Amino acid sequence: MGKLKIVGGDRLQGEVSVSGAKNAVLPIMAACLLTSEPCTIYPVPALQDVLVMRDLLEFLGARVELCAGQMRIEARDVVPQEVSQDLMRRLRASNLVLGPLLSRFHWARIAYPGGCDIGSRPMDLHLKGLAAMGAEIGDSHGFISAQCARLQPADIQLDFPSVGATENLMMAAVLAEGTTIIRNVAKEPEIVDLQNFLNSIGARVRGAGLDTIRVDGVNQTGGVVHQLIPDRIEAGTHLVAAAITQGEVVVRDIIPEHVEAMLAKLREAGIGLEVYADAVRVTGRGRPRPVDIKTLPYPGFPTDMQPQMVSLLALADGTSTVTENIFEKRFKYVDELRRMGAEIKVEGRMAVIIGVDHLSGAVVQATDLRAAAGLVLAGLAAENTTVVEDTAHLDRGYERLDAKYNSLGANIARLP
Ligand code: EPZ
Repeated sequence: MGKLKIVGGDRLQGEVSVSGAKNAVLPIMAACLLTSEPCTIYPVPALQDVLVMRDLLEFLGARVELCAGQMRIEARDVVPQEVSQDLMRRLRASNLVLGPLLSRFHWARIAYPGGCDIGSRPMDLHLKGLAAMGAEIGDSHGFISAQCARLQPADIQLDFPSVGATENLMMAAVLAEGTTIIRNVAKEPEIVDLQNFLNSIGARVRGAGLDTIRVDGVNQTGGVVHQLIPDRIEAGTHLVAAAITQGEVVVRDIIPEHVEAMLAKLREAGIGLEVYADAVRVTGRGRPRPVDIKTLPYPGFPTDMQPQMVSLLALADGTSTVTENIFEKRFKYVDELRRMGAEIKVEGRMAVIIGVDHLSGAVVQATDLRAAAGLVLAGLAAENTTVVEDTAHLDRGYERLDAKYNSLGANIARLP
């Protein structure tokens, strides 16, 4: 499963750029199923999750070419068929083919998706919305099947602003009859990027980034060349890497408004920040101040930055709290941080972090993608050597993170 050996203690210095957003490219790849015309997406990050989604689209009959960050998808010859367990369990976002397949082909059958083990990840909001649009839903023996004549307009209220449910329902409504309204939607920047892509292929979607999205169904879709937004979670991870090593780093290709909540917490923690149009300079100054964080749907503090911030606050000069409001099992990595000398107590949804003046290297186990990132950051700051095991998790969501940090002066070796 791969390991990273990190000799800690180096202050990161220099400039690092951010790749295309993982959580934008995955729904947009699924959205290519809505058209028979070729679509080109760039800059596509070299991530394991992208390769799994590519495998899924090719299984369905799409042609996918990926070269040097440019991906061309042609879904002319797609034949909807049952997508098996072994494909679906490799990626939670594989469930995003449901909406497009139903919208264009009126039939879909997928095994329940897999993905990071950060909590039960039901699809009830996806399925309730599709049923409201007239789909007949079957949900048994680990498979979801759905069929319809043509999806009908509906006025859907999401119980929770689920990112995936918002994306699936937006895509389902593109070729449906009439106008579909989706209320209490997720407002993440990746939803706005998906809306821009959909409108570029001829859909009529409005409201992404706000509380309600309206989709006027169309009969025709075309092709497009689409540039992805940068990955705000990768950007946030780099901001923390500079802060935790008390270094000085310029993180490029950032859209500052996408990372406002992260910048606010880092400022509160006493981290030096200079914000430019498409870059942020971070200067770590001694131990961070303790802060309290609650993860919330966008524009609140992102759950995908929770482990990275806990690693930073483990070294704060006081006691912090981090409350995880999105996923119920996203503190599993805390036991690993404790091996490095962190003093953290988890009570239900809240972690209480008593800052220590140093962490010590240890052998630690990554339990999911962002936990792996948090452990790498802790290793960068820790004394001696840290070995992070199961770095396959890391490669699902970060493009060559070890190489990027070594270019800033870190000492990370990749072990088999
Ligand atoms: C997306 O996952 C992201 N993944 C996640 O990023 C991110 O953590 C999450 O949104 C929240 O921001 C992608 O975009 C590919 P949700 P998603 O549906 O869509 C509950 C990463 O590290 N829920 O917003 O699966 C669910 O259980 C990954 O990059 C239902 O109850 O998240 C969870 O508690 C991890 N019923 C909450 O909503 C449903 O039908 C948020 O889930 C759907 C969701």
